[in-house]
Amino acid sequence: MRKKKIIVKNIYKSFKDKVVLNKLNLDVYESESLSIIGESGSGKSILTRCIVGLLKYDNGSISFGNLNNINTLNDKEKMNYMSKFGILFQNSALLDSLSIRENLKFASKQDSFNKILNEVGLPNSILEKYPSELSVGMQKRVGLARAILKKPEVLILDEPTTGLDPIIARQINLLIKNLVKKNKITTITVTHDMESVYEFADYVAFLKNGIIEWYGNARKINKSRNNSMINFIKGIN
Ligand SMILES: Nc1ncnc2c1ncn2[C@@H]1O[C@H](COP(=O)(O)OP(=O)(O)O)[C@@H](O)[C@H]1O
Ligand SMILES: [Mg+2]
Repeated sequence: MRKKKIIVKNIYKSFKDKVVLNKLNLDVYESESLSIIGESGSGKSILTRCIVGLLKYDNGSISFGNLNNINTLNDKEKMNYMSKFGILFQNSALLDSLSIRENLKFASKQDSFNKILNEVGLPNSILEKYPSELSVGMQKRVGLARAILKKPEVLILDEPTTGLDPIIARQINLLIKNLVKKNKITTITVTHDMESVYEFADYVAFLKNGIIEWYGNARKINKSRNNSMINFIKGIN
């Protein structure tokens, strides 16, 4: 039985006269992997920022468990709310002047990172290195390690394979698949990469014109009759 974890209801978000989210509805289910796809600039990152509490929406509501409208949380409640999420940002967002150990310590004060590094397929020797000494693929792995370090209730991955060559992208997709499926973690992935969708999405939401134009099982995506989604998938394959 699927259980709703996050309910996005009629959210509206604009920047001056540019409407980005136009009364958008979306349910995120517990222990499922949801991929949000859509053209560049369609509002995928804005939507995920609203969900994690980094950005306020103008209207509508986002509910999480027994929290009814996260816009109304005070600062302390907001900090507590945001700690439920593990986030891999689009560019990995590692701090350049800190070693990998320090980058991880920033997320969690623990001393040993051996287990988490093993989970993301990195040797312990990288702890004393700096982000600029690592390949982009390795940086993604560190970003992933940091995102799952505190066992978040919900994992957010924003374009985890964008900018990677196809071979590294495939390795990262397989790694995410293993992490997400093994831990049954509720995951929202924003992506352009249909390989990511086919590899580890359970459900797919297609964002266009400020709303979710198509939502369905990832296995049925090719049977969709929504023309704009068919064109979108064709266009990037
Ligand atoms: N701070 C901002 N001020 C004005 N417009 C913004 C701001 N942030 C994002 N936008 C606009 O919102 C739209 C959606 O952006 P975004 O969610 O980043 O798209 P994407 O689907 O590529 O992740 C874009 O047209 C972008 O230009
Ligand atoms: Mg984006």
